[in-house]
Amino acid sequence: MEKIKVGIVGLGRLGKVHAKNLAENVQGCQLIAACSFVQEELDYAIRELGVEETYQDYEEMVKSPTIDAVFIVSPSGFHCEQIQLAMEHGKHVFSEKPIGLDLAEIEATERVIKSRPEQVFMLGFMRRYDDSYRYAKQLVEDGELGELTLMRCYSIDPSSGMESFVKFAGASDSGGIFMDMSIHDIDLVRWFTKKEVSKVWALGKNAAYPELDKVGELETGAAMMQLENQAMAILVAGRNCHHGYHVETELIGTKGMLRVAAAPEKNLVTIMDEKGVVRACSQDFPERFREAFVNEAKEFIACIKGKRQPQVSAYDGLQSTKIALACKQSFKTNELITIEN
Ligand code: NAI
Repeated sequence: MEKIKVGIVGLGRLGKVHAKNLAENVQGCQLIAACSFVQEELDYAIRELGVEETYQDYEEMVKSPTIDAVFIVSPSGFHCEQIQLAMEHGKHVFSEKPIGLDLAEIEATERVIKSRPEQVFMLGFMRRYDDSYRYAKQLVEDGELGELTLMRCYSIDPSSGMESFVKFAGASDSGGIFMDMSIHDIDLVRWFTKKEVSKVWALGKNAAYPELDKVGELETGAAMMQLENQAMAILVAGRNCHHGYHVETELIGTKGMLRVAAAPEKNLVTIMDEKGVVRACSQDFPERFREAFVNEAKEFIACIKGKRQPQVSAYDGLQSTKIALACKQSFKTNELITIEN
């Protein structure tokens, strides 16, 4: 079978990770095109990744007849428009999370996706493709934990990124901490429990970087959720983790509990020296989720070849964004928000 020819838009922090995986680590595809506003990134794609076509205009790229599929890794505010354009030009689409920042726009995008069932659409909730989360999911599906009653989720970015975040926070629209970071945990809550969230109450505080108050961003946010079956979820999102990149998930069920990455250990090495017994921590998302990013890209290509849809749908994108927006609203109004499902 011919290789699936892929064009990528966005070659920033995550775009470079995906581009390298598509060029080197995923069989059955060829990274043939790249689109970015930044010329140096396009030069890099030609030089390092063997890309043949480069574009500064996204619409030009999706019009290219050589491209079968696009990988969207641009800033979140562009996702909906770019998904729709690619779908309308007959391409298969992988989009990074969140699917969008505005519910009406996401609903319109979902309609376009649904109208083209022969084209694959996949959303980048890569934790579902991480080996540890897949193992945990299988245990839950096998009934090992009984009925899930509570989930506790931590997603805290390294403090090493704080200075640049504070500098650019006003200029870039991440959608806020619940949309940008908690959305992965929201997806995990829906994936593990198979239930929708019905109520949220969210709080936040800028303790180390109070200047974030001025740009409407948060350094630490917390949300408490009630699910439609009265199960509970407690989410913590942060940007000021001093030991590295801390993603931890706890599931509590009627027959047992489990934790994924109770400590965000880098590997199996333990150092014993004058500092005591030391386990190094993973430092950023490309390191912690290296395999998951490769696995999800492999699944995208396998879906195109196998003419099937992946399990992460546009509906998952819509529902997770709805919940993240409710968190944002709750933080703003300091009120408990009820979500209509
Ligand atoms: P970034 O700001 O580092 O890079 C953005 C890239 O998009 C740059 O190459 C820029 O030139 C390009 N770009 C911007 N607007 C464009 C347009 N209209 N047309 C063409 N190119 C355009 O962003 P980053 O951090 O790589 O994030 C990108 C997306 O990936 C975001 O939606 C973010 O939510 C998501 N993300 C997901 C993560 C995950 O854990 N799955 C982790 C980090 C980011």
